[in-house]
Amino acid sequence: MSDTAPVPALSERATHCADRLRSASSVLLASHIDADGLTSAAVASQALERAGISFETVFAKQLDREVIEAIAVTDHETVLFTDFGSGQLDIITEFEQDGAFTPVIADHHQPADAETEYHLNPLLFGIDGASELSGAGASYVLARALEPTPGSNRDLAALAVVGAVGDMQSGTDGLTGANEGIVEDGVAAGVVSVSTDLTLYGKQTRPLPKLLEYASEARIPGISNNEGGAIAFVTELAIDVKQDGEWRRWVDLSDDERKTLVNALIRRAVSSGVPADRINDLVGTTYQLPAEELGTELRDVSEFSTLLNATARYDRADVGLAVCLGDREDALSEARSLLLNHRRNLSEGLQWVTSEGVTVESNIQWFDAGTRIRETIVGIIAGMAVGADGIRHDLPIIAFAAESAEETKVSARGSHFLTRKGLDLSVVMREASQSVGGDGGGHNVAAGATIPAGTENEFVSVADRIVGEQLTSD
Ligand code: C5P
Ligand code: C5P
Ligand code: C5P
Ligand code: ZN
Repeated sequence: MSDTAPVPALSERATHCADRLRSASSVLLASHIDADGLTSAAVASQALERAGISFETVFAKQLDREVIEAIAVTDHETVLFTDFGSGQLDIITEFEQDGAFTPVIADHHQPADAETEYHLNPLLFGIDGASELSGAGASYVLARALEPTPGSNRDLAALAVVGAVGDMQSGTDGLTGANEGIVEDGVAAGVVSVSTDLTLYGKQTRPLPKLLEYASEARIPGISNNEGGAIAFVTELAIDVKQDGEWRRWVDLSDDERKTLVNALIRRAVSSGVPADRINDLVGTTYQLPAEELGTELRDVSEFSTLLNATARYDRADVGLAVCLGDREDALSEARSLLLNHRRNLSEGLQWVTSEGVTVESNIQWFDAGTRIRETIVGIIAGMAVGADGIRHDLPIIAFAAESAEETKVSARGSHFLTRKGLDLSVVMREASQSVGGDGGGHNVAAGATIPAGTENEFVSVADRIVGEQLTSD
C-alpha cells in the first residue's frame, strides 16, 4: 500500500496541525450540523482516537460569537474546528489572542479577514473549496497526517467522499481536483468503488417505479412526478420488474437488465424532447461503499449523505455521528425514521415553493418561506427548486425562513455557470447581511446568512445590486 499524501499541496500544513494536536493537553472537536460536518467530525474523531489523543465533541448549527464564547468556557486548551471556523476566523482569533484556546481549523469555507497558525483550508493553497475539497476532505488530509502508521487512516476516505458528495461537489463527471486523490485512497483501501451508472437518487433503496417517479431532477415527461407513468414505463420493459410480488430495486438488476432500462429511459427522454444536456446527466460517475450492506442507504454515497442530513439538520447529530462511527443497530434505525420525516419535509417544501413561485428582481430571484420550511433545510429546498416549473436556472436563488421571532435565516444557491461569470455568493451573503446588521458567508456557489427579522426587503435590494456588479465586472 502506498503512503503518499492525498493532497500534496496541503501536507506540510496538515503535519503542522497534527503536531499541535498531539501536544495538546485537551481537545474539543467542534463541527457543523450537515452531512459534510458530520463526516468531518467522524473522520477527525477516529483519527484523534487512533492517535491516542483524548477529546470531546460538540456540534453547532452555525458558528458565531455566542457559540465560540460557549466553546471558550469549556476550558479545553485546543479546539479543533471542522467544516467551519475559517469564515469566523476574525472572531476566533480574538479568543486566541485572549488566551482562551488554541484553534486548529480544518475547513473549506471562504476565510474571514484574519490569520492563524494552524489553519488547514484548500483556499489558502489555490484549491477550490466549493468544488475540489470539502470539510470532510480537509479533515481527512489532517487524519492522514495524524496516522500512527503510514496508510492506516486510509479507510476514512469513505467518509470523506460522503462529505464531498453531501456538499454537492460531485458533478456528472464525479469528483474532481483534490477530491480525486481521496477517492484513489478509498479505492486502494477497498472502501470506495467508482462506477459509471445511472445518476438518479435512490438506486439502493427505492423500488424501480419510485426511483423514476421521484427523480425530479431528470424531468422526463410522463415519468417524473407521475406514479402511473413510472409504473407503466417499467412494466413495459422486457425485464422482470417484480420478484415474489415485490418491486425490484436498481441494485437487484443484472448489468444487462440495467442497460435495458437505461436505454429505454434515454429513448423516452429523446422522444419527449428532453434537452441533450439533461439526457447526458442521466448517466455519470457514481460512488459506492463496498464494505456496506447492499441495498441499504449506506452503500450509495448520495443516499448516505441524505441520511446524515436527515439527522443533523433536525438536532440529532448524535445519531448521524453514531452511524458514521459504525453503529448499524439503534442509530441506523433511528436515522431511517428521521429520513422519512426529512423526505416528507423536502417534498412538501418543494411543492410549496413551486406553487407559491418566486419574486424575480433584476439579478436574483427569491422567496420567503416564513415558518413553512425549517430554516436548516431551506437551502436544500432552494437548490432543488432551481429549474423546477416556473423557477429560472439562470438566476441565483435566495430563500428566507424564520429562525426565531427576531432572526431570519437566508440561504443562497447559484450555479457553476454563474460563478464562472463572476458570481460569489459568499461575498454577497457577507456584505448584504452586514449592511442590515447580520452576518453570513459560505462558498461562491452556495452561501447563507442570518439577518434581523424585518430587514428582508433591504437585504434583497443590496444583494440584487451586488450580484449585478459581480456579473458585469470583467
Ligand atoms: O456548510 P457547507 O459547506 O457544508 O454547506 C454547503 C452547502 O452548499 C450544502 O448544503 C450543499 O448542498 C450546497 N452546495 C450546492 N451546490 C454546490 C455546492 C454546494 O447547493 N455546487
Ligand atoms: O438532501 P441532499 O441535499 O443530500 O439531497 C441531494 C439530492 O438528492 C437532492 O437535490 C434531491 O434531488 C435528491 N433527493 C431526493 N429525494 C430525497 C432526498 C434527496 O430525490 N428524499
Ligand atoms: O444553510 P445553508 O445550507 O444555506 O448554508 C450554505 C453555506 O453558507 C454553508 O456553507 C454555510 O456554512 C454557510 N453559511 C454561513 N453563515 C451563515 C449561514 C450559512 O457561512 N449564517
Ligand atoms: Zn462543508
